[in-house]
Amino acid sequence: MSAMVPFDSARAVTTTALRAMKEAARPIVMVTAYDTPSARLVDAAGVDAVLVGDSLGMTVLGFDSTLPVTLDDMVRHTAAVVRGATRALVIADMPFMTFQVSADEAVRNAGRLMAEGGAAAVKLEGGTAVTPTVRRLVDAGIPVMGHVGLTPQSVHQLGGYKVQAKEAAPAVALLEDCRALEEAGAFAIVLECIPAELAQFASRELAIPTIGIGAGEGCDGQVQVFHDLLGLGGEFLPRHAKRFADVGETIREAVARFADEVREGVFPGEEQTNHMDTATRAEVERARTGRLRAVGDSADER
Ligand code: KIV
Repeated sequence: MSAMVPFDSARAVTTTALRAMKEAARPIVMVTAYDTPSARLVDAAGVDAVLVGDSLGMTVLGFDSTLPVTLDDMVRHTAAVVRGATRALVIADMPFMTFQVSADEAVRNAGRLMAEGGAAAVKLEGGTAVTPTVRRLVDAGIPVMGHVGLTPQSVHQLGGYKVQAKEAAPAVALLEDCRALEEAGAFAIVLECIPAELAQFASRELAIPTIGIGAGEGCDGQVQVFHDLLGLGGEFLPRHAKRFADVGETIREAVARFADEVREGVFPGEEQTNHMDTATRAEVERARTGRLRAVGDSADER
């Protein structure tokens, strides 16, 4: 185990603490969040890291992919999450085309996620091809989490949201991508939708932690999408996800009860009502009566 003391539940989680968790074989728990109330809840639940994923586009903004998510969207939602998460490490996704054009642009854009959004680290999709950018970011003092396997920003190139690297050649290439990301200075790597055996190879080969989603139990940690965990994503649930609660149904029931009470005249009741004192009420009534009389008089004159 590392000499650091990373697991104090009151301390803010750092990127180096995640590495120490891997060394101590303590599974890392990461979950997405996109706003202050959900960040407060997951932080209070004791997760190690909160990912402001560009899954925002699908879970919250109603798009059918992550591609339309903008840097401004991510800055705004990251800042909201940072206001809610006081302990967990907050990592912000770099959206589509904010890091691919040039390393200079990537540094500027990641800088906004950190300086304006308050993120402690950024995540970007891609393997060996993005390692020069990862190196530039790390050299600029920006901690980077990699993301390989099913990379949703490349959905059109991949031909859909499918399990990746099932054959030997792409599996070996993925391991090389992981190694290249580690060498470029990434502090952790998300492995999305790859065979469990491959994720286990990667997790064993790398000194930095792997965080899996649809990559089996051999990873150093697991990440899930908030809406999938809680039944907030409608009927569809990806195969790699598990619904731990049906909060969606609870919300539907609560809002239906609210609607019933409004329609039945039950809500608002006395408890939800503010009153003015009797003297003020009388004064307002007198003023209104006087005005109505004046309006009536001028109408009579016409
Ligand atoms: O955007 C996201 O939520 C992600 C996770 C699925 C890892 O990238």
